[in-house]
Order: sequence, then structure tokens, then C-alpha cells
Amino acid sequence: MDKDKKKRLAVLASGSGSNAENIIRYFKNHPKAEVVLLVSNKADAFALQRAKNLNVLAYVVPKFGFENGEALQLFQYYEADFLILAGFLLKAPQNLLEAYPDRIVNIHPALLPKYGGKGMYGMHVHEAVVAHRETESGITIHYVNEEYDAGKVIFQAKCDVLPDDTPDDVAAKVHALEYAHFPSVIEQVVTTF
Ligand code: GAR
Repeated sequence: MDKDKKKRLAVLASGSGSNAENIIRYFKNHPKAEVVLLVSNKADAFALQRAKNLNVLAYVVPKFGFENGEALQLFQYYEADFLILAGFLLKAPQNLLEAYPDRIVNIHPALLPKYGGKGMYGMHVHEAVVAHRETESGITIHYVNEEYDAGKVIFQAKCDVLPDDTPDDVAAKVHALEYAHFPSVIEQVVTTF
């Protein structure tokens, strides 16, 4: 990869897309990287609207389109250098892992290896953290590999979980960490190439 070339990011999101929006805003007019498209596997994901509102191309690719290589073709067509998973709930298929080795970055709303794996996403994670009376939680930003939430960790940040905190309270603290750190960690990753 040409070190001086502006890096092209594709953001993948399945739901609300508040992280996706934060990332798009961060890289608007950024000298070294730009978000060139947003892809969702869900046609009703609010993330699509957020991208369009910010003049970023938004596509829907259903699950089978990830499996049969259609999503990969789209990323290659737009010459995406990195895939950024921001609340994306499908497992990355082998065709993407092979085409983007160490170029797929995910955020998980807990301190992996705790509270990761299949079925552990979004509010399910925060509910489990509260149910287990954890005293801290946080975020993990990591590379994506064949297993759910098991790729090499790039960055973690922690927040306190108080005895009276509800899952919503934990979600708010974790989201605040995500907004504060995810864009700058992406920036560090993509500018080292
Ligand atoms: C975020 O908290 C993200 O960490 C989590 O989904 C949320 C999406 O929120 N991701 C996972 O749980 C992945 N296993 P958003 O759509 O508002 O950005």
C-alpha cells in the first residue's frame, strides 16, 4: 500500500450507526483517510440514513451477499483499503478475511476476552456485565479473524460499573468511550500502512 496515498475506508454497520456517524464526521476533510462508503446488512438500519445525510454512499448487502462475494466486489469496486466494523453484527466471511488481512477492524463493547463470542453484542453485553456484578467494563478495538471477537487487540479503554448501574447506564458509558477513542485508533491503524 502506498504510504502517501489517502486511505479509503468502508464502514459496516447493522443498526443505529452512531459510531459510524462519528467516524464519518471525524474523517471529513481529513488529510490521510476518508470514508468512501457505508454498507449495512439490514435495509432498515438507521446507519444508512446517517451516511446519506453526510453525503456518504450507502448500500444494503444482505447476509447472502457477504457469503457469495458480492460485498467483497463492492469494496473492491470502491477501492476500499480498510473495512471498519462499527456495530456490524454479521461474522466476517472468509472471502473478506482473505482479501483484507489485518485490514478489518472491529469494536466490541466490553473488555475482551470477557463477554465476547456469538450472541454477545449490543445490549446483551451490558446486561451480562450487570448480571455478573462486574465493577468495570469498557471497549475493545481489535483486528478481525475467523473467530468471533478473538482477533489481535489493538486498544482497550475501561469505565467503572457502579453497583446501581443498569445496562442502559453501562451502555451510555461504553458509548462515550467508543465516541472518544474509535476514530483516533482507526486513524493510527490506517496511517501506519
Ligand atoms: C456499539 O456499542 C458497538 O460496540 C456494538 O454495537 C454498538 C453499535 O452502536 N458492537 C457489537 O456489539 C459487536 N459485537 P451504534 O450502532 O450506535 O454505533
